[in-house]
Amino acid sequence: MEREFLCRYGVYQIYPISFCDSDGDGKGDLAGIIGKLDYLASLGIRTLWLSPIYPSPMWDMGYDIADYFNINPAFGTMADFERLMEETRKRGMRVIMDLVVNHTSDRHPWFRKALEDPNSPYRDYYIFRPGKGKDGRNPPNNWTSTFFGSAWKEVPNEKGMYYLHLYSEHQPDLNWENESVYQAVRKVVEYWMDKGVYGFRCDVISEICKESFEDGKKGSLTKPTGHEHYIATPGCHRILKRLRKEVIEPRHGVLIGECYGVERDQASAFLDEELDTLFGFEITDPGLFRKRMRPKDLKRILVSWQGLSCNGNYFENHDQHRSVGKYVQEGAFEKEGAKMLITLLCALKGVPFFFQGEEIGSKDYRSLSLKESHDVVRKFLDAFLKGYHVPKPLRDYLSRKYGRDDARAPMAFASREGHGFTKPNVQPWQKFNELSDRINVDIQEKDETSVLNYFRECLRLRQSDDALSLGDIQFLESDPEVLLFLRVSEDKKRLCVFNLSEKEKDIPKVVLENETRRILISNYWQSEKDDSLHPYECRIYKVN
Ligand code: GLC
Repeated sequence: MEREFLCRYGVYQIYPISFCDSDGDGKGDLAGIIGKLDYLASLGIRTLWLSPIYPSPMWDMGYDIADYFNINPAFGTMADFERLMEETRKRGMRVIMDLVVNHTSDRHPWFRKALEDPNSPYRDYYIFRPGKGKDGRNPPNNWTSTFFGSAWKEVPNEKGMYYLHLYSEHQPDLNWENESVYQAVRKVVEYWMDKGVYGFRCDVISEICKESFEDGKKGSLTKPTGHEHYIATPGCHRILKRLRKEVIEPRHGVLIGECYGVERDQASAFLDEELDTLFGFEITDPGLFRKRMRPKDLKRILVSWQGLSCNGNYFENHDQHRSVGKYVQEGAFEKEGAKMLITLLCALKGVPFFFQGEEIGSKDYRSLSLKESHDVVRKFLDAFLKGYHVPKPLRDYLSRKYGRDDARAPMAFASREGHGFTKPNVQPWQKFNELSDRINVDIQEKDETSVLNYFRECLRLRQSDDALSLGDIQFLESDPEVLLFLRVSEDKKRLCVFNLSEKEKDIPKVVLENETRRILISNYWQSEKDDSLHPYECRIYKVN
């Protein structure tokens, strides 16, 4: 049932610091979100996922939680949160929280107590190990952090003793072998669900259980050394099944998993009695020296992940570059391209996820210097590459490519000063995108042909159509850069046609023969019979 709700209505991700600032401190907040609920309702949004809003030193922008039971004062108070719950409920909306439990912040009281007293029970909440070699001067193994460098940090004032951090040293990993950790997280989940939260997007959930601490195979920029010892382990599946059965199911909630490092053939297991849907990562990577993913790669990856019972379909989130530029070329056909990608999300099987600003076809910053960046990955990568004497232009290229600032720009609601994100004269926490004057909600509201108005129409179509939201999917033979498929429910059939490229293409004749068809939506005007496709053209047909 819950999976069906997600599939039909989709999920809209809010990155709170960049969504809407109600009090003029340059940072988005909960009251700002409340002020925009009518806008979101007008888009047809029914489920909001909030990136972390808990107290945090913000080393990793809130993915380093220092208190699981409160609200970050920069975002408001618990009373604001309760008002948000009430206002969303009134509009028939549901709220999903981010649950970050692979690690905590190093400021979390559990970790502080673990450091202060080696005999404290909190020691065993984390993963401490003695080093190797003379006086333990080397880390316990060769694992590297996803954020570069060793995954181990020597404990201050305890020579030869280390703790594990798969992310930054300010994000120590929890020890899920310890029953007390499960019980503590269970309390967190119950606490928020009792406040009316619908479920959780579980951060890097595929890595929580480390199976062994042996040295790992040598990794790469995108695959840390050691990952084979902690990705998708039997322990992880055990914990997810238990959490689902004991806490989520009785409350009719949902669990969405960020399955970092999980290969396609490992993914299905997570959807069986564990997660409602998941995010894979193959879709995020166009290749080391590519900015834009090749259409044929996009097609191959989409088709492969559609084999899952309920994939989480997404092109954007707070960790990725904007999709215009990444999956479609910027320039003459970018508006059609943005609409095509939105249509794809609305036509594929599974759960469509949208990131704030995607509905207006937002783009990456034109330039954002290292100084203007707030992202730890960008900073760490630059420092790491310096250590290998990588020339500056290549360093800049790689740190911008793997940096995660681009989609984190403050939301552009209007052209006026502050862009409707904050008050005039207020410096936003991170600079506005240079295109905010041109690409914003106000302008697009007034333009019938805008990406925004198309988004509304397309999402409504999915939500009201059983075949598109819940039907089976069948792929049809086509050009490697054209995606053709049917969505089929008991009494309905939809033919979905996507030109993933900026070239003109043909639809194979046989596909359009012998059946009556009517176009339900398209990003171009054309006759129903036309079998040639413009750049990035897409159509969804009703077929009888
Ligand atoms: C996830 C988050 C990312 C964060 C990381 C560590 O990938 O989306 O923003 O840095 O986990 O928590």
